[in-house]
Amino acid sequence: SDRGSLYDRIGPQVLAALVQRFYARVAADPDLAPIFPADLTLTAEKQLAFLTGFLGGPPLYHQRFGPPRLRARHLPHAITPRRAGAWMACMEAAIHETPELGPDEARELASALARVAVHMVNTPDLPG
Ligand code: HEM
Repeated sequence: SDRGSLYDRIGPQVLAALVQRFYARVAADPDLAPIFPADLTLTAEKQLAFLTGFLGGPPLYHQRFGPPRLRARHLPHAITPRRAGAWMACMEAAIHETPELGPDEARELASALARVAVHMVNTPDLPG
């Protein structure tokens, strides 16, 4: 669009704030916390680098860590539909917690990430 990439419209500072707010919620989520490292510093750095490129900014993840191959990188983790829902709920909450995001950016970001989250599912929900 003539308004630039989603990355340009959001900006690096707001994106970094969003990622911090997201992982604070992940750390407090009973479905997600057990599969993440206790220290989320590197995880958050990788996510910020990934989202920068994903949203149309410089390909920082690729430069630092190689091809993202995100689905393959998630295979060691049991990503159930329930966890994908929890992941998106954390992201939507973090988006709402970030009023610097305009409504268009908030909506476009949520729908782009929802598509990736569904693609990460690699394990069925356990009964119960
Ligand atoms: C890494 C869970 C969706 C991007 C990880 C890790 C876990 C995880 C457990 C490993 C953390 C670590 O060891 O540092 C999940 C779950 C998801 C999900 C439960 C639910 C669907 C996504 C989505 C994206 C994403 C939608 C991108 C938009 C990343 C990135 C990494 C990562 C960039 C770091 C990969 C690496 O270099 O090790 N995720 N993830 N994840 N995730 Fe996800």
